[in-house]
Formats: sequence, structure tokens, C-alpha cells
Amino acid sequence: MHRPPPYGMSNNGRYPPYHYGGEYYPSERRRGGNVCVRCICCFCCFLFFIILVFAVLILYMFLYYDPKCPTYKFEYMDVKEFKYNPDSSINTDVILTLRANNPNKGVGLLYEEASFINVTYSDSLICSGKFPSFHHGHRNVTMLQIALKGKNQLRSGLNESLKDDERHDKIRLKLMAMVPFRLVFGNIKSRSLNMNANVTLIVRDLKPGKKSVTEEGKIAYRLSY
Ligand SMILES: *[C@@H]1O[C@H](CO)[C@@H](O)[C@H](O)[C@H]1NC(C)=O
Ligand SMILES: *[C@@H]1O[C@H](CO)[C@@H](O)[C@H](O)[C@H]1NC(C)=O
Ligand SMILES: *[C@@H]1O[C@H](CO)[C@@H](O)[C@H](O)[C@H]1NC(C)=O
Ligand SMILES: *[C@@H]1O[C@H](CO)[C@@H](O)[C@H](O)[C@H]1NC(C)=O
Repeated sequence: MHRPPPYGMSNNGRYPPYHYGGEYYPSERRRGGNVCVRCICCFCCFLFFIILVFAVLILYMFLYYDPKCPTYKFEYMDVKEFKYNPDSSINTDVILTLRANNPNKGVGLLYEEASFINVTYSDSLICSGKFPSFHHGHRNVTMLQIALKGKNQLRSGLNESLKDDERHDKIRLKLMAMVPFRLVFGNIKSRSLNMNANVTLIVRDLKPGKKSVTEEGKIAYRLSY
């Protein structure tokens, strides 16, 4: 048999006159497909490489900085003043000693100014203050003195219940703190994060003097941006 005519004009003129395109497009499409596949392949390789680099970098940072959670423990409450007023309000002036431990060898903490600490008794505010603003260096244990003061009205009946608790040597105070801080890696500071913490502190009484504090349960933390 003889070869079919290249441009198919023999098929009773069924191909339109721009027959050349009939041959051109399919082969072009096939070549285009190959280019696309190669493109995707390249992109995947590139992506894989980038992910690998990032994974190695993060692993290196992790091993280098070896991040650990700092720990905090309330140790003492020094009561300067705790006085019932005739109008059933109370004057409070105490200093809490907090043992703050940053066990990290490469990560510092910068506690910022805008912190807030409230201490309540049965949901009634008795005093408030601030977390000291300072840079907590590497592998450092610092005893922080947190001054808390207030002249607040106790909810009705709470003066009785507070005195009753005092007779039983067990006063439960709830401390709520909001402390903005930054992580410090060498000269680089992270953006500001918020640490929210709640803890129930138990003291024997609120007579003037320094007394030990026990924490009921663990300090509950929540981090936010
Ligand atoms: C821990 O940090 C505090 C506050 O920056 C500093 O005063 C103290 O000297 C440091 N302690 C040690 C052992 O480095
Ligand atoms: C508690 O406060 C009320 C007034 O709110 C007062 O009548 C009562 O005597 C106070 N009790 C004590 C033990 O101070
Ligand atoms: C403390 O109390 C003040 C006033 O009641 C309130 O605005 C603030 O949000 C409280 N902060 C915390 C951390 O509980
Ligand atoms: C602390 O207690 C307050 C009020 O009870 C609550 O709204 C907040 O979510 C608690 N925060 C944490 C970190 O547990």
C-alpha cells in the first residue's frame, strides 16, 4: 500500500483547508504536557528541599536553644497591713515572694510593664498589683517581690467567713495574673505574648508578718498573642 497522503486531502475534502493545524496541535499538546510535568517535578523537588532546610533549621534551633518552660512558685506572703474598716471595707498591703526559675541556657524572658495581678477572696477583690518588669536571664533563679495593695469593699458576709477561715488556719486566696512578655534569643526579641495564670494560694492567717504560702494544685497557664 502506498502511504496515505500527509495532509488528508484525499478524504473527500472532509478536512478543512487549514489541515496543517490538525497535525500541529496534538504534537504541541503532548510537548506542553511534558513541560508541565517537568515543571511540577521541579517545583516538588524545590518544595521538598525548602521543607528539608526548614526542618533542619528548626531541629538545630531546638537543639541549640533547648527550650524549657520556666517555673514559678509562690513561697511567702509578708502581710504589712490587713485591716477591717468600720464601713466593712478592708485595707490590704502584702508582699508576695515568688521564686521564678528560667532553666533555659539560650532563651531569656523579658517581662513587660503592662502586667496585672488581682487577688480575690471568694470572688471579692482584696488587692492588686503588678508583676515586676525585668529581663529574666539564662539559667537564672530570681526571688521576686510582688507588692499587692488595695482598699476594697468585701461582699456582705465575707468578713465573717474570712474570720472563720482564719480561725481554721486556712485562707484560700485566688491569684489571677496577666503578664505580657517577650522571648529573647541573643539580640532578637519575639513579639509580645500574654501569659495568663491562675493559682489558689493558701495562707494560715492575715495577721501582720511573713508567712509561708502553699499552692493548691498547679498554676494554670494560658498563652495568647
Ligand atoms: C538573676 O537575674 C537577676 C535579675 O536580672 C539578677 O539580679 C541576678 O543577679 C541573677 N542571678 C544570677 C545568679 O545570675
Ligand atoms: C461584718 O460586716 C458587717 C457589715 O457588713 C458587720 O455588721 C459585722 O459586724 C462584721 N463582722 C465582723 C466579724 O467584723
Ligand atoms: C483585675 O481586676 C481589674 C478590675 O477589676 C480588671 O480590669 C482586670 O482585668 C483584672 N485582671 C486580671 C488579670 O484578673
Ligand atoms: C482564670 O480564672 C478566670 C476566672 O475564673 C477565668 O476566666 C480564666 O479563664 C482562668 N484562666 C486560666 C489560665 O485558667
